[in-house]
Amino acid sequence: MEQYIIKGGRSLAGEVVINGAKNAALGVIAAAIMTDEPVIIENLPDVLDINVLLDAIGEIGAVVERIDRHTVRIIGTINSVEVDNESMRKMRGSYYLIGALLGKCGSAQVPLPGGCNIGSRPIEQHTKGFRALGADVDISFGMVNAKADKLTGNHIYFDLVSVGATINVMLASVLAEGQTILENCAKEPHVVDVANFLNSMGANIKGAGTDVIRIRGVEKLHGSTYSIIPDQIEAGTFMLAAAATRGDVLIKNVIPKHLEAITAKLLEIGCEVAEDDDSVRVIANRRLGQTQLKTLVYPGFPTDMQPQMTATLAFSEGTSIVTESIFENRFKYVDELTRMGASIKVEGNTAIINGVEKLTGATVCSPDLRAGAALVIAGLAAEGFTIVEQVEYIERGYEHFEVKLKELGAMIERVEDTDAKAIQKFKLKAG
Ligand code: EPU
Repeated sequence: MEQYIIKGGRSLAGEVVINGAKNAALGVIAAAIMTDEPVIIENLPDVLDINVLLDAIGEIGAVVERIDRHTVRIIGTINSVEVDNESMRKMRGSYYLIGALLGKCGSAQVPLPGGCNIGSRPIEQHTKGFRALGADVDISFGMVNAKADKLTGNHIYFDLVSVGATINVMLASVLAEGQTILENCAKEPHVVDVANFLNSMGANIKGAGTDVIRIRGVEKLHGSTYSIIPDQIEAGTFMLAAAATRGDVLIKNVIPKHLEAITAKLLEIGCEVAEDDDSVRVIANRRLGQTQLKTLVYPGFPTDMQPQMTATLAFSEGTSIVTESIFENRFKYVDELTRMGASIKVEGNTAIINGVEKLTGATVCSPDLRAGAALVIAGLAAEGFTIVEQVEYIERGYEHFEVKLKELGAMIERVEDTDAKAIQKFKLKAG
């Protein structure tokens, strides 16, 4: 198994370029198969979850051609609506193929989505939406089976705000007959990105980015060339890495507006943040302070940044309180931070963090994607050597994470856990 070995204590400095947004790209790839005409997707992140989804659409007949590392050409000539790719069971974004296939072909059989183990992740809002459009949906033998003779627009009120359900039902309704009105929608930037992409293919979607999305069904979609928005969570992760290591990092290819909740918290705990048109620079030159925060749907503080923020607050001055309101199981990494000397008590969905003077290196295991990134940040700031195991979680969503960190001056290496020689070599070099 691969792991990261880190020697902490170096301030990060320099520039880093952010890749396209993984969670937008998952929706865009699914949308791309809704036309038989060629679609070119640019600024696609080269990460595990995206590559698994590309393989899966290839297996059901789409022609997928990598033009370069971040550009792909897709022709959505689907010859099967049954997605039976084993890897798809482990990822969340697989559920977008239900909406896309149901919308295009009137039928979909897709494994029940997996994804990071951060809490129970039901999909009843997705299925409620599909049913309201006229589909029969059942879940059996681990598969979601959706079928409709015809989809007809409807007025759908989501019982809770869900990114996945908003995008999925939007996908299913773009080719439905008549008007669909979705209420209580998620407003995340990736919802807007998928809507913009669908519109570039000829869909008629209005209101994405607000609570109410109106979709007028069209006969068919056509080809398009589209560039994915920058990944707000990758950007936020590097902002926190800069802050935690008392660094000075210019984070390029971002949309500063999407980062406002993170920027506001960094300012509050004592960082300097300078925004430009498409970059943010984070400077921290002293021990950071405490704060209180609650994760919320956009434009609130994102749940996907909660672990990275908690890790940073673990060695900031004072007592911080972090409340997780989206996923109930997103504090599993706290035990790992404790191994590094953190003093954090979790009560229900709240973590009470007593900032310690410093963290110390330890062997820790990343329980999921964002928690893994948080443990790397902790390792970069800690004294001594840290080993972060199960980096495959991190690689689901971060492209060349350790390479980018190295370019900012971090001492980090990706090594095979059995490769004692490589580990020894790193330790000697790091001193
Ligand atoms: N929920 C339901 N029923 C549903 C749908 C959602 O109860 O039918 C609940 C969930 O259990 C959760 C809340 O609603 O408590 C919000 O879930 P949402 O549907 O918004 O999340 P998601 O679509 O499963 C996406 C991202 C996550 C990100 C969340 C929140 C993808 C593939 N995943 O998940 O990303 O945390 O939105 O912003 O887009 C990550 O990238 O690390 C990641 C976990």
